[in-house]
Amino acid sequence: MHDAKIFKNMHRERFHAEPAIFAGPGRVNLIGEHTDYAEGFVMPAAINFATLAGISPRKDGKIAIYSENQGEERVFEGAQTARSKHWTDYPMGVAAILAGEGHKFPGFSLSIWSDVPLASGLSSSAALEVATALAVLSLVGASYPGPVLARLCQRAENEFVGANCGIMDQFISLNAREDHALLLDCRDLSYKLAPIPDHVALVIANTMVKHSVAGGDYPTRRRESEAACAVIASHRPGVKFLRDCTLEDLAKWGKEMEPKSYLRAKHVISENLRTVAACDALLKGNMRELGRLMAEAHTSYSRDFEGSCVEADAMVALAQDLPGLIGARLTGGGFGGCTINLVEQSEAAAFAEALGARYTEQIGIVPQIHVCHASGGAHRVE
Ligand code: GLA
Repeated sequence: MHDAKIFKNMHRERFHAEPAIFAGPGRVNLIGEHTDYAEGFVMPAAINFATLAGISPRKDGKIAIYSENQGEERVFEGAQTARSKHWTDYPMGVAAILAGEGHKFPGFSLSIWSDVPLASGLSSSAALEVATALAVLSLVGASYPGPVLARLCQRAENEFVGANCGIMDQFISLNAREDHALLLDCRDLSYKLAPIPDHVALVIANTMVKHSVAGGDYPTRRRESEAACAVIASHRPGVKFLRDCTLEDLAKWGKEMEPKSYLRAKHVISENLRTVAACDALLKGNMRELGRLMAEAHTSYSRDFEGSCVEADAMVALAQDLPGLIGARLTGGGFGGCTINLVEQSEAAAFAEALGARYTEQIGIVPQIHVCHASGGAHRVE
């Protein structure tokens, strides 16, 4: 984690004002992929990588946004109403949504720094949105319950940035608990926390293949699975989302679907069952069952949802016989990014090294592998 003192100084020097600092963590999803926008179940945890947002009010009404990672500052006359297809859309989108909710904040200077790897399936976007939201709200002394603020941040991404993501990332970044995974019901945003035992490490292996939720594959998969849902709904009018569908529905009406839509739905419907079962296994300390469900989830994500890639499949396969592995799968939006490996803590360092060496040898890319732990949710940094 970046030193908040250095970050504070950076803001002071650039904007000649004292900032309040907020942190929003990235996340890793243990299981439950492409289920959130179908009102299904996900089980993510926040990780010890975060975005910091430093904010100070301005008298001139302008909004200045500086990112240390991008090495760039942009100044706007005030809150914008349309995207500019630039990284500033994420913080500006949050400001726009909050302004739309009636918050009358002054102009501000915002500094951003992050160590969440970008476009790697670890929710760098949500971390930025959430840190910005807390920062902007602090200007007017306002706050929201975590689930409500998660929806507002998701709206910033859906409506302003134009990425059709679900609620998982913003929700976990705001509501995570240290050393816990969180089973979220994306229908009513009720959730259950499940402790991650001390002897288990989260080893995140970055394939170094970039993915983007705004890019073509994510919305295509979403459309394909929604088309399958529409077929089932035409027979069962109560059905609104794949969350409402069963494997029996699929067996009955799957023939009426495009073959791809059928496979996408098969993944989503079965993934919901696996995710709920995975939380049960974690709560019971049944790591073997959790690992088995993760393996099944990866196969489903890769074969039926076709959301993986050669590199991610290799990263998962290469982990299988390494000492200490509990379970491995591709995490996040797909088509690249990172795998999550649950690994016995005592073996984690050796596991990371061996996996990195194997991947480099087979794929010819040096991956970044991080031994992480589940962290708490977004907060003000003193
Ligand atoms: C991205 C989106 C999430 C979710 C995952 C896939 O991270 O932002 O809403 O859909 O992909 O599970």
